[in-house]
Amino acid sequence: MGPPLPRYVIDPPRGHRDTLPAAGTRLEPAEIFGRRAELVVEVGSGTGENIVAAALEHPERDHLGVEVYLPGLAQTLSRVERCGSPDNLRMLPLDAQGALPAMLPEGSIDELWVYFADPWPKQRHHKRRLINPPFLDAVLPLLAEGAVFRLATDWAQYAHHMRSQLDARPELTLLHPSGPRPQGRSSDAIPPDMAATGWAPRFEGRVKTGFESKGRAAGRLIWDLAYTRGPRPPAPDGTSDIEESTEQ
Ligand SMILES: C[S@@+](CC[C@H](N)C(=O)[O-])C[C@H]1O[C@@H](n2cnc3c(N)ncnc32)[C@H](O)[C@@H]1O
Repeated sequence: MGPPLPRYVIDPPRGHRDTLPAAGTRLEPAEIFGRRAELVVEVGSGTGENIVAAALEHPERDHLGVEVYLPGLAQTLSRVERCGSPDNLRMLPLDAQGALPAMLPEGSIDELWVYFADPWPKQRHHKRRLINPPFLDAVLPLLAEGAVFRLATDWAQYAHHMRSQLDARPELTLLHPSGPRPQGRSSDAIPPDMAATGWAPRFEGRVKTGFESKGRAAGRLIWDLAYTRGPRPPAPDGTSDIEESTEQ
């Protein structure tokens, strides 16, 4: 057994895999942060460059980084300690697709970030991409009405794939429907039917990570996307869950 984990690492009992929580393990944001505040979740937070910077920049919000790669988590932890361990940050070292819908209440996320997800460029590996129906089915119900889902990638083919997956979701609306494509030459092939508009400007809260720098150095463009979640469907008894949540 290693040394005890710092308090900002959520370490629930594990289920049938080491990256999944035991059945019935719940995560109530108000309990873990000791308050109710807007919740920002980054899936695949890598070495923590974005989520730690965001927690320091926005003490009024709470932040949850989800990262399954333990060396990335270890680097995040040393970054957190160097920054004085802000109270508004927690790390969850689990598989986001399995863990988040099992643990978080529906409608509890105000911003969801997926930056530079593994591109899996080979055709036979496309099904391993994070932005695919199983992940979207898992996380979209967790978004609050009006929540923002931000993504970025340096792979044109993956950007195109993201658009096809996300534009097809009725609960999501593009935040920048007339936003132009990133300008410039790209070293990777841009699909001929790539959308000309709908792209987001670089989110000013997104810091440049090593993955972005590597993509730029290789001559690839950076594709940013932002969607907002529309009204949540009414509950089966006809009352909307928005009304229910304001009664609490
Ligand atoms: C290419 S890295 C990008 C890291 C970071 N977002 C950045 O921009 O530096 C993608 C990260 O996503 C993580 N990841 C992939 N699938 C995941 C999942 N289902 N749950 C949690 N993390 C995941 C990987 O372990 C990896 O660290």
